[in-house]
Amino acid sequence: MTGSSHELFDFIAAELAKFVAGEDENSHPFPVRQRELGFTFSFPVRQTSVASGTLIKWTKGFSIEDAVGEDVVGELTKAMERVGLNMRVAALVNDTIGTLAGGTYYNPDVIAAVILGTGTNAAYVERANAIPKWRGPLPKSGEMVINMEWGNFRSSHLPLTDYDHALDVESLNPGEQIFEKIISGMYLGEILRRVLLKMAEEAEFFGDTVPAKLKIPFILRTPHMSAMHHDTSPDLKVVANKLKDILEINNTSFKMRKVIVELCDTIATRGARLSAAGIYGILKKLGRDAVRDGEKQKSVIALDGGLYEHYTKFSECMKSTLKELLGEEISDDVVIIHSNDGSGIGAALLAASHSQYVEVEES
Ligand code: BGC
Repeated sequence: MTGSSHELFDFIAAELAKFVAGEDENSHPFPVRQRELGFTFSFPVRQTSVASGTLIKWTKGFSIEDAVGEDVVGELTKAMERVGLNMRVAALVNDTIGTLAGGTYYNPDVIAAVILGTGTNAAYVERANAIPKWRGPLPKSGEMVINMEWGNFRSSHLPLTDYDHALDVESLNPGEQIFEKIISGMYLGEILRRVLLKMAEEAEFFGDTVPAKLKIPFILRTPHMSAMHHDTSPDLKVVANKLKDILEINNTSFKMRKVIVELCDTIATRGARLSAAGIYGILKKLGRDAVRDGEKQKSVIALDGGLYEHYTKFSECMKSTLKELLGEEISDDVVIIHSNDGSGIGAALLAASHSQYVEVEES
């Protein structure tokens, strides 16, 4: 996550080479052809063509300065050459775009894709003539996909706490990705740590000394928080064990553990409700937030990401909030589907559809 661009792309190329080496001889239909690759790159990119784009900035704790402004496909291509891999990137896609492509392939009613994972983002299909920024000729389909990069949304209407401000200021990308910093998996556990630290310092929540481990940024991760939040044991044993194992805090009372579960709930609920608001915003923009002209239409959202997949209370809350926002009349027509590794599959499908090898019919 930190280091040089060379190191990062060499790592990816080496992993690819391992995959190719382990591939069954017969699984490659055209052994002499150059392999074509769909490249999912889950960061903001200025896309210059289907298979090129320059990195705008890193997010989610990555910090590899010499890659910023570079064509990531060019970098990967050079790295593949260095390890002797005969491969060509046929499509460069953000994970949201991959999930959208994979989603629509299996279900034509998919209109948007959302990632709730380490980071967060969404993509949707827009009418091309509704995109003021677009200067080029309109596509024949009349449609265009938009990678929203909603993780970078911020607004004075988005209330932030002192914990959010402090987390942002001390992050690798201060002032950036504010929506992401209050929703996504990279940050929820860290927000919890900051709240607990404050309670320890100012209210002696853990007794008269502040637990040393609690001072270590990012020590408490979202999967730990999720495990504590889902603790159903009568004496909140999971909470007790996490505190002991991760933070070296022993002898917590039941009352203290209950407070911690409540904190998990407050932090996760805020993130979940805000992500539902984001999805509702897309539906509203597309006029799919209400029954129009008495006509019912299905809107399917493809969702992926570890936070959505593994943090059940988060995803349940997100879904129930979306229902609440949509109201009864329309909520059954909006369906969320889980698109497992949708972004990888979607990128492969896009690569296939942009293959250089067009089958020529013999005349
Ligand atoms: C990136 C997006 C990506 C999202 C989910 C964000 O930090 O900026 O490009 O789609 O994470 O992976």
